[in-house]
Amino acid sequence: MDKLKMHSRDNIKEHIAQIAALFPNALTETIKDGKVTQAIDFDILKQELSEVVVDGPAERYQFTWPDKRKSILLANAPIAKTLRPSREESLDFDSTENLYIEGDNLDALKLLQETYLGKVKMIYIDPPYNTGNDFVYEDDFSQSEDDYMPGSGQFDESGGRLVPNLESNGRFHTDWLNMIYPRLKLAKDLLTEDGVIFISIDNSEVENLFKLGNEVFGEDNFVAIITLLCNPKGRSQDKYFATNHEFILVFSKTKLPKGSFSILKKDDQIIDEYPEQDENGKYRLLELRNTHREFGKFNRPNLFYPIFVNFVGEIQLNKDKEGLTKIFPIWEDGFEGCWTWDENKLIKDVDLVCGKKIKGQWKIYRKSYADGADKMLKTIFLDKEFYTEKGQKELNTFFESKGKVFQSPKSSALIKQLISTSTSNNDIVLDFFSGSATTADAVMQLNSEDAGGRKFVMVQLPEVTDEQSEAYKAGFKNICDIGKERIRRAGKKIKSDAGLLAKNLDTGFRVLKIDSTNMRDVYYTPGEYQKDFLSSLADNIKPDRSAEDLLFQVMLDLGILLSAKIKETRVGGKTVFDVAEGYLLACFDSNVTSDVVTEIAKRKPYYAIFRDSGIASDSVATNFDQIFATYSPTTVRKVL
Ligand SMILES: C[S@@+](CC[C@H](N)C(=O)[O-])C[C@H]1O[C@@H](n2cnc3c(N)ncnc32)[C@H](O)[C@@H]1O
Repeated sequence: MDKLKMHSRDNIKEHIAQIAALFPNALTETIKDGKVTQAIDFDILKQELSEVVVDGPAERYQFTWPDKRKSILLANAPIAKTLRPSREESLDFDSTENLYIEGDNLDALKLLQETYLGKVKMIYIDPPYNTGNDFVYEDDFSQSEDDYMPGSGQFDESGGRLVPNLESNGRFHTDWLNMIYPRLKLAKDLLTEDGVIFISIDNSEVENLFKLGNEVFGEDNFVAIITLLCNPKGRSQDKYFATNHEFILVFSKTKLPKGSFSILKKDDQIIDEYPEQDENGKYRLLELRNTHREFGKFNRPNLFYPIFVNFVGEIQLNKDKEGLTKIFPIWEDGFEGCWTWDENKLIKDVDLVCGKKIKGQWKIYRKSYADGADKMLKTIFLDKEFYTEKGQKELNTFFESKGKVFQSPKSSALIKQLISTSTSNNDIVLDFFSGSATTADAVMQLNSEDAGGRKFVMVQLPEVTDEQSEAYKAGFKNICDIGKERIRRAGKKIKSDAGLLAKNLDTGFRVLKIDSTNMRDVYYTPGEYQKDFLSSLADNIKPDRSAEDLLFQVMLDLGILLSAKIKETRVGGKTVFDVAEGYLLACFDSNVTSDVVTEIAKRKPYYAIFRDSGIASDSVATNFDQIFATYSPTTVRKVL
């Protein structure tokens, strides 16, 4: 039996029900007195009753996640780090213009800001896909080291932290986004105005990466999403469909003109597509009539005009000649189409045009030569050479191993394709998740094929290899060791395959390792130290740092390319580094005398650098400026 209500009618409830019947979308739920109860969303109701858009409170299109703002801060925060050269691990240190940087790419991207700002033409990255099995470098060092198992691949050599990002982690996408966002922001600044970035990714994060790319580079600078057939057999461990593809997202720094990514046609394609030949080379005939019915006399009247041919099909500009046939761009069903050239263009290039009688009807053709012919790439990449198994085979061959020294490297043919669509001549190519250095290999191969002088910058974390792994057994203690050895071996192979043609090919690389700054803390914060303590320090430079370490920090500071030529010379018994053919002269020796300073000043460098503590005496220090004023007043002088 129903209980009596024993109170008056609930008008509010009644009104809500009536409104909800009219506007079901305005019905919502809220908490009242700790209980969930029905309510009306007045913003929606207002909108339903308004003819113009009503401002809602905070409703707007946005892409956000926890700590997004923090990761912006992370991108902007300065670091007290430097790049220390390693001659022993480099190849052709003095002559190469390629770089191999070891360390966390967030640091590397920051360190390169000064020197490589706006200088990189193409970036390719293949970041961890966030499949639930990847180790992701954690930028937030708030957890204690004990939380991690040492020796299980979770540390890199510099003590950095690699953490597994499991799907069960409540911050699964958040962590990945916080990792990639600051890196993309910094990477964008390194691109030239017409620079482009290619990012490999799979289903796990393609949606987020696309949104992020639009945010960082701007929707107008979205270029393409390439779908790559990478595993033709498909992944048998998948649940529903056997995935056999992944993606490459492409963004440019600024809006690029049409055709920016077109590439020259290859020889076999030219043989197939250009069957005709004359004294100017191979060509094919293309119909001059526009083959699209969206265009015709109705909307392109200037392209609808008669063309006159004689009986052998030669185009005649003198229409008054006898025996000519008048041809209009009219389709077989009578549709009045149009030509693709206007009359002026026809007059100018009449030698390229001819008529042909096909099934009793005259058609007009133009010659299209193969020389310089380019094509737009399609957004689905199906080339067998691009399969991941190809990349794996390639790498295994280098290391004479059936086992995998490195898991799933990209195919060099794929990266070569991306580089050739976006670079030429002496462009700089950067890969800051470089793994086994496929990108470096691709750059060298392409340079060897087209005599280019592209330079590469590889960045890779010295992520330690598992003791049970094939890599470890082959003697590679971390991934950088694999990458560097790959470049050495690939370079050798490319040179030997190309013979004399590759005589000048740059297959070397300068190894630079990210480390703490060369300066002691007192260099940055002298005010915090007691005077006695300061004077007890002979120097403000850490004792384990070499002159070349200092030189690279100076180059970073002054924005001098890290690939600049460096010559070590002797002046008055002191070592003087000559960078970029006299642009910078640096002497970090001690007991630098007036004679040495004079000799350096006489060479008129743009920059002259000394060590504060290296100046021999107070009198040399006093004369220092006078010497420069006499011999090279414009030289910028600095001391460390
Ligand atoms: C998918 S692999 C790249 C493979 C590469 N495309 C190739 O063909 O060999 C991603 C690489 O990024 C590296 N990596 C991950 N986080 C990094 C970081 N913060 N800094 C530098 N490298 C990182 C990993 O060690 C791994 O080698």
